[in-house]
Amino acid sequence: MLEVNNLMVFFENALALNGLSLEVREGEIVGLIGSNSAGKTTLMNTVSGLIIDMKIKEMRKGGQRITVYGNIIYDGEDITETAPNQRVKKGIVLSRERHPIFPESSVMENFKIAGYLRSKTEVRETMDFVFTLFPPLVKLKNRKAGFLSGGEQQMLAIGRAMVVRPKLLLLDEPLLGLSPLMQKAVVDAIVNLNRESGITVLLSEQFARPVLPMVDRAYVVENGMLTLSGTGPELMNNPEIKAAYFGV
Ligand SMILES: Nc1ncnc2c1ncn2[C@@H]1O[C@H](COP(=O)(O)OP(=O)(O)O)[C@@H](O)[C@H]1O
Ligand SMILES: [Mg+2]
Repeated sequence: MLEVNNLMVFFENALALNGLSLEVREGEIVGLIGSNSAGKTTLMNTVSGLIIDMKIKEMRKGGQRITVYGNIIYDGEDITETAPNQRVKKGIVLSRERHPIFPESSVMENFKIAGYLRSKTEVRETMDFVFTLFPPLVKLKNRKAGFLSGGEQQMLAIGRAMVVRPKLLLLDEPLLGLSPLMQKAVVDAIVNLNRESGITVLLSEQFARPVLPMVDRAYVVENGMLTLSGTGPELMNNPEIKAAYFGV
């Protein structure tokens, strides 16, 4: 479904991704594990198109700060130069860490804003599904989004991404800053949305512990390069992973 080939991304002369290649097959949950500054967000932003958008805007201003080499193939089509909104139409939807939701609007209103391109029925159906995925949101329907806890905001962010009907859902550090209990709730919801809607998921995370049990496969990135990849169980038993990413 998604093929990233030899991706290199430079910010000025700093290399954020260095010849990174990976693959996500339809229906999979794939993890991208790496410590701070490893290049996780840059990869997510390159796949969702935000990087190409930044690059085009800078070129219009006469700058040449961002350079991208390599290509991204989605459903057999080269989308390396495709604009982010076109990628959303093709089903690639990014839910960023701490997605800027509308803090003054209620949870319900936030869903409606996200679904402005969808019919009311579609939005309601997705909302019902999201509420089954994230039961804690049900009693918070009318609460201002700004008053939600970190975990609840993350649930809302993923829920909002669901309204756009993703085929490939990109989650950049969805567990960041959450308590272990909240992490588990979010992990369970991601597994459920993958099983029940067949949505393919690529998610990034700093630590291996919460994600390796839930993923089909994972890639480990260090300094913009892939260092390891394998199935969840393979990586869980890998001594290098144990030492570096279990954060004990
Ligand atoms: N907009 C930017 N301008 C300059 N350097 C950046 C920018 N975004 C990321 N970088 C650099 O690229 C590298 C990878 O960053 P990032 O993708 O944010 O890593 P991660 O999400 O894994 O923490 C880091 O060295 C970071 O400083
Ligand atoms: Mg990041």
